[in-house]
This record gives sequence, C-alpha cells and structure tokens, in this order.
Amino acid sequence: MSYNLLKGKRGIIFGALDENSIAWKTAERVHEEGGKFVLTNAPVAIRMGTLKELGEKTGSEIIAADATNLEDLEKLVDQAQEILGGKLDFVLHSIGMSVNVRKGKHYTENNYSFSEKGWDISALSFHKTMQVLYKKEAMNDWGSILALTYMAAQRVFPDYNDMADNKAYLESIARSFGYFFGEKFKVRVNTISQSPTPTTAGSGVKGFDGFLKYAEEMSPLGNASADECADYIISMFSDLTKKVTLQNLFHDGGFSNMGVSYKVMAAFEKGVEK
Ligand SMILES: NC(=O)c1ccc[n+]([C@@H]2O[C@H](COP(=O)([O-])OP(=O)(O)OC[C@H]3O[C@@H](n4cnc5c(N)ncnc54)[C@H](O)[C@@H]3O)[C@@H](O)[C@H]2O)c1
Repeated sequence: MSYNLLKGKRGIIFGALDENSIAWKTAERVHEEGGKFVLTNAPVAIRMGTLKELGEKTGSEIIAADATNLEDLEKLVDQAQEILGGKLDFVLHSIGMSVNVRKGKHYTENNYSFSEKGWDISALSFHKTMQVLYKKEAMNDWGSILALTYMAAQRVFPDYNDMADNKAYLESIARSFGYFFGEKFKVRVNTISQSPTPTTAGSGVKGFDGFLKYAEEMSPLGNASADECADYIISMFSDLTKKVTLQNLFHDGGFSNMGVSYKVMAAFEKGVEK
C-alpha cells in the first residue's frame, strides 16, 4: 500500500547489495512512496552484487563510494544533489562489516587491524557521511538521517563479536552529531535497532539460524522482517516523525524488553502453557 508519504523528497540510500538487503527493501518502498534517490555502495559490492537491477526498477542512478573514504563521500553528496536537483531530505546508512567475524576471529582473539577496519566501515563511516553532509549544507530543513543497528550494542550476544562495540559507537555518533544537525538544520538523526534478519551481513554471524529462531520465540510480535523495517524507515523519513531525534528506536517485535517468554520456557520445561 502506498500513501505518497515521500512525494517530492530526495535522498541517498547506502548499502543495498542484493534483494535481501534492508536497504534494497527500503529503496523499493521509498520509490513506491514517491521519493527519489541515488543508490550507493562500495565499488566491489557494485561489481559483485545486483544493484543495477534495483537502479532500473526504481529509476535511480548508482554512484560507487567507499563509505570510509571522504573524497568518495564528497563526490557522492555533490553528484546526488546534481542528479536529484536539490538538497536532500533523507539519508539511510545501512552498512556493516566485521573483518574479525569474516575471518572467524573469536572476540577474545580479535586482530586489531581487522577491528579498526570493521569499526571504520561500520561506525566511523556514519560520522564521515554526516560530516560531509553538514559541511556541504546538503540537507533540507526537517530532513531525516538514519542508521541501522542491533541490540548487541546494549546486551551481550557472544558471536556478534566486535560488531557489538561498533554498534555502540554508531549509536553514540547518532546522538552526538544529531545534536549539531538539529540545532543548525532542524535535521533529525536516529538509529533503528532491527531484529535479526536473514541478509548477507546477518547470516555471516555464527549460529545465526538458531539465534533467529530464539528471537522469534522471545518476541511477542515475532521478529521484524526486512520489509517491515523498510516500512518503519519510510515513517522515519516522512513528515509524520519530525520531532523524533537522538533516539535508538527498537524495531524488534518487543524482544528488547523481554525477560523470558512461555515459548522459550517450554523449550526447557515440560508442561508450561504456550
Ligand atoms: N541482518 C541483520 O540481522 C541485522 C540486524 C540489525 C541491524 N542490521 C544492520 O543493517 C545494516 C544493513 O545490513 P543488511 O543486514 O541489510 O546486510 P547487507 O549485507 O545486505 O548490507 C550491508 C552493506 O554494507 C555495505 N558495505 C560494506 N562495506 C562498505 C563500504 N566500505 N562502503 C560502503 N558500503 C559498504 C555492503 O556492500 C552491503 O551492501 C547493517 O548496518 C547491519 O549491521 C542487520
């Protein structure tokens, strides 16, 4: 269902790799709601992935940018404004990667050059993106900037590894930069803390399938899907959420406030009512 919530709005969507990506689903929904945007990803992801297909489907141009590289980000923000014909109303940072996770390095054995690379990609890139947008005064008043995060920033999920630390840093950047963006440009900055979701980044975490099922059984509303996350992002980009800023918003079917559920108890005890 479309409500034209983003009619006349322009933006940049980072991080669509394939049709499972949260950013991919978001791009489809933004298009349905009348928003125009530029798609971006790291050059290697554009070569390996299927982003071209999404560009054609949504009538969007694709600009390669490594989100850790300031020069790439500057070109991206300039070109996006040229292509879209004005300042931006929304930006989605949907980027995450841990080299320690990829290489199977246990948290207690982290390799620090891997840690630095993962931190730069997953957390600092959000600061870099906002710094470029801020300096170039590229956002319209009452615009909305979002990044995606996970609850391992607050609680222990052992195999989430150094991504937990990266997410804590990312959420802090949203608050700190969000203050300056709010004061100067009336732009809101938030993070959405999403349920575990079967995507390339999500499935890379060890034991992901077991964890996905556990979260499903713990959440009164069940896990939030990538499509549902895209719907939430639309509402956060729309004018209906103008005064929501500096928040970490849980989009997880209630998981983050649960202690235990009947379904999970039943897995350990016989005779507990479901
Ligand atoms: N999947 C989950 O379970 C889950 C849960 C909560 C939060 N998130 C977060 O959602 C976001 C999107 O991930 P996803 O699950 O859609 O997976 P995904 O693998 O589809 O997306 C991750 C994206 O990051 C991009 N990326 C990596 N390095 C980059 C760089 N240097 N420059 C630019 N882009 C780069 C990748 O190319 C990819 O498109 C991430 O921040 C992730 O941590 C995912």
